[in-house]
Amino acid sequence: MGASAKKPIVLSGIQPSGNLMLGNYLGALRSWAGLQQTHECIYCIVDLHAITVPQDPAELRARTRETLAIYLASGIDPRKSLIFVQSQVPEHAELAWILGCHTWLGELERMTQFKDKSAKKKSVGAGLFFYPVLMAADILLYQANLVPVGHDQKQHIELARDIAIRMNGMYAEKFPGPSQVTQNKEVKEALPLFVVPEPFIPAVGARIMSLQEPTAKMSKSDPIPNATVFLGDSDDEISRKIKKAVTDSGTEIAYTGEKPGVKNLISIQSAITGKAPDEIVASYAGKQYGHLKAETAEIVVECIRPLREKFKGLLADRGELDRILKKGADAARVRAAKTMEHVKEALGFLA
Ligand code: TRP
Repeated sequence: MGASAKKPIVLSGIQPSGNLMLGNYLGALRSWAGLQQTHECIYCIVDLHAITVPQDPAELRARTRETLAIYLASGIDPRKSLIFVQSQVPEHAELAWILGCHTWLGELERMTQFKDKSAKKKSVGAGLFFYPVLMAADILLYQANLVPVGHDQKQHIELARDIAIRMNGMYAEKFPGPSQVTQNKEVKEALPLFVVPEPFIPAVGARIMSLQEPTAKMSKSDPIPNATVFLGDSDDEISRKIKKAVTDSGTEIAYTGEKPGVKNLISIQSAITGKAPDEIVASYAGKQYGHLKAETAEIVVECIRPLREKFKGLLADRGELDRILKKGADAARVRAAKTMEHVKEALGFLA
């Protein structure tokens, strides 16, 4: 390995469904920005995934730009990372079809997210069923090594791995790679079609819980009022929500599963400040829940305010947002085309 050893490729995506919240920032966006120092990063806005449920076109357009603005406000930098909208790179849908022809029906039927999402519905679009295959295409198209996601997406990454391993096995020997000379003999090493990706689940802030039901994850679609701090909330709204957070009837400030509400506030503080939970607990010796809530509120307000302000500034210049996306899509297509060339040759499609 020389000095130019390649950095591992990271790829992830968020649906442009709006309403991103504190957990998305602390658990995902902030760490995605951090990964830019050590990895080659690809961050996608997955609008093709968004249409697996009905969308209003004007809303979708607005949310897509907003998602880009949130990426940028979080420190994801288009000079360091490849940022683009999935539908602007048609190779995603193209590869998804090919992968789907190498995926078993039973594999998709086993996906727990599909089972959950379809259980409550009278009729279910085929896109919802095919969703994990499209996600596999997002990942395999760029030969990504690591995929930062929440726990709920782990099963989808496993599927992407299974498809990659299966297709590598089926097609590798039919697609010989460049010649290599080893021990004076020229050998053609079979080139796998796809890198087999690994899930990458960030530990910090991965489990920010609902403020109202602290045994459930904080969610952007939680119908319970005051359960979720959104990245667009005003300082006052944030403060109010945190001061109303459910704790318990006790008085002791401790970091334990028996006090999920108190634990959650400490976790939030810890995720933002980087202080260990024990250190935070120690600083509240002799104090009350009111103190913990007031200080947590202040810490969250200070964390979100700059993000919200940057976000608003960025959204004001739509032309610039669209230019960033155009550049991103152009660069993404160049990379995607390389994989598609290999795939098509391996499968026997004419060039
Ligand atoms: N399914 C992911 C989610 O809902 C979003 C997603 C789509 C994604 N394609 C991806 C995440 C590729 C990582 C990699 O969170």
